[in-house]
Amino acid sequence: MQVFHNESKIIITCNKRLSGYLQQEVEALGYTPTRVFPTGVELKGTVTDTIALNLNLRCASQVLYLIKSFKAADPKELYDELVTVEWEKLIDFSGYFSVTSNVNNEHILTPLFANVKVKDAIVDRIKEVKGVRPNSGSEANKTLVHLYWQDDEADIFMDTSGETLAKHSYRKIPGKAPMLEALATSTIMATNWDRKSTFINPMCGSGTLAIEAALLATDKHPGLFRMNYGFMHIMGYDENVFFVERRKLKDKAKKETGFKIIATDISEDAIDIAQKNAKTAGVEHLIDFAVCDFEDTDVPEDAGVVMFNPEYGERLGVHSKLEITYKRMGDFLKKKCLGYRGYVFTGNPDLAKKIGLRPSRRIEFYNGKLDCRLFEYELYDGSKRDPSERPQPK
Ligand SMILES: C[S@@+](CC[C@H](N)C(=O)[O-])C[C@H]1O[C@@H](n2cnc3c(N)ncnc32)[C@H](O)[C@@H]1O
Repeated sequence: MQVFHNESKIIITCNKRLSGYLQQEVEALGYTPTRVFPTGVELKGTVTDTIALNLNLRCASQVLYLIKSFKAADPKELYDELVTVEWEKLIDFSGYFSVTSNVNNEHILTPLFANVKVKDAIVDRIKEVKGVRPNSGSEANKTLVHLYWQDDEADIFMDTSGETLAKHSYRKIPGKAPMLEALATSTIMATNWDRKSTFINPMCGSGTLAIEAALLATDKHPGLFRMNYGFMHIMGYDENVFFVERRKLKDKAKKETGFKIIATDISEDAIDIAQKNAKTAGVEHLIDFAVCDFEDTDVPEDAGVVMFNPEYGERLGVHSKLEITYKRMGDFLKKKCLGYRGYVFTGNPDLAKKIGLRPSRRIEFYNGKLDCRLFEYELYDGSKRDPSERPQPK
């Protein structure tokens, strides 16, 4: 099977509501999506194409390459179809593979059962042809097969990513309520920040927004932080393609930015964690960290983006305290951030009202299962004036 050379359907999955940002990234790489849906983007390409996609994409979760589409009404039909696939040309008989699935079929009560059926078909096929049973289990760090089965329509994919791409591998210490990296980068993309003016992140927690901003500004891709992907464990993989793509990314990554990224938090521990994470991402020299109440954040007289991801108080009792915090955030934006665009990412629209500024946009996101908004505030300097008249970054 010439999967590294033959085009097939590629599905790139992402968290809900991130597909518009993923689409922008895919198009910037020169690919034309054939379909965009709430949790992903579809295109055509080879497994060789998936190498560049895996290394470049910031908003994606998994890059899946279609092996076969077929009808299967029940587990027996599923097995009968899958045992005809030439698995011996994809999975080394001495290797290790695992199966994941997204299943909605009346005969399947637990996805684990579907996974076992797929595994049985693969093992039986390889044993029949090669006389040896490959090992399998739940580890996602070797060859990965993904089943998408809705009613009687099934698609079987090679998962060329393995561990999710939505985590960007630099956050060794998570801190309190950290944002998923793919979500953080998408929210920054949603601001249309020009990547060359001041970026301020008060309440930075583990530093995700500030670090993602630094990675975007330096054109440094999180794919560089990883040395293991699903595609490396598909038979026929040529490591030269990976190293050439990696070298391209390394060569274009800038070391300096020439403007400020500022990240502050009231918690000393949070700043300690954020600094460590920034160091792992190789961007600690680009971020000015400080321990302080957000009101005391240094705001240079300039233009740019100020972005908050405050707590939203899912626990009872903390609400009234947070109301005061949100009101203070509004005052801070109004008084100290004129000339900037302000953003607040929150899952609590009632608290957002306490900010006391009229949002110019309410951009929809999810944080896990929670419906969230990124509120945008135009913070005009003096009377409402044209954005082009604002102070320009130095
Ligand atoms: C939801 S967390 C931010 C998570 C962050 N986006 C991340 O990815 O790790 C909110 C942060 O606000 C900080 N915080 C709460 N009240 C603050 C205040 N008055 N001034 C500054 N930081 C504050 C907390 O210490 C916490 O780290």
